[in-house]
Amino acid sequence: MKNKSLVSINDYTKEDYLKILDIASEFENNSNQNLLNGKIIASLFFEPSTRTRLSFETAIDRLEGRIIGFSDANSTSVSKGESLKDTIKTIANYCDLIVIRHPLEGSARYASEISKVPIINAGDGANQHPTQTLLDLYSIQKTQGTLENLNIFLVGDLKYGRTVHSLLMAMSKFNTTFNFISPQELKIPNEYKLFLDNIGLKYYEHLDFTDIISRADIIYMTRVQRERFSEPMEYEKVKNVYVLRSNMIENTKDNMKILHPLPRINEINEDVDDNQKAYYFTQALNGVYTRQAIITSILGLK
Ligand code: CP
Repeated sequence: MKNKSLVSINDYTKEDYLKILDIASEFENNSNQNLLNGKIIASLFFEPSTRTRLSFETAIDRLEGRIIGFSDANSTSVSKGESLKDTIKTIANYCDLIVIRHPLEGSARYASEISKVPIINAGDGANQHPTQTLLDLYSIQKTQGTLENLNIFLVGDLKYGRTVHSLLMAMSKFNTTFNFISPQELKIPNEYKLFLDNIGLKYYEHLDFTDIISRADIIYMTRVQRERFSEPMEYEKVKNVYVLRSNMIENTKDNMKILHPLPRINEINEDVDDNQKAYYFTQALNGVYTRQAIITSILGLK
């Protein structure tokens, strides 16, 4: 992992995932250290973010590193027409590592090809969100005691949800059974089903989930990604198809946990928040420890 960019979750092996989770667990026990003293990390957010940007910044602050960057590209020379290439080549001169979120699929890979410092993809369009996946793995392992042989229900926007795509690829290494619940318009893309077919993993597709969630170990809810729709009417048709309510999880397994990368809109009713099966806010906290593990591994400090 040292000096290697993290652009896709496929850039890491199963052993790499487990190593990151072990290091994250160490950081959960001791999050404030001076490991990043003297390091400068650039945080380049060309797209809005709350959790990813601020958990990266918290992770760095707690390790005494310094942060440069922006959360609004309009305040930079991008607004004057500067290219992504020139932006990355310039900023790579100022820092040890670049964290980038960008709306274009493939932008993080492109950045990694032109940057002299490693790149961490903090989300590129509908493509990948590998640091979210690692914190999801951490959350699953922590709540289930294992990553192996679990029954995972992925619910909502499985077409545009980049967190779903990365999580599927990662969990496929742990003999997962997948249940995909989405409206017809937002089904998991065929390439992912072909991938699961090729490696012989079981998956099931459903339009409704009320009768089947009693089998789930993890219910992974997702938001319908309004910003990826070109037609507002198409978004309106599907935006409230699935709403998880407290009474719906009464007969679920004791170990079952509800995850959501957040932000949520309506897909989890607030009456679920106080249920001990709701894990999404702790999941967001786990992002700090996991990102500390990723940064220090790439910088060769762990
Ligand atoms: N989970 C996630 O990526 O959230 P943000 O968009 O707030 O960073």
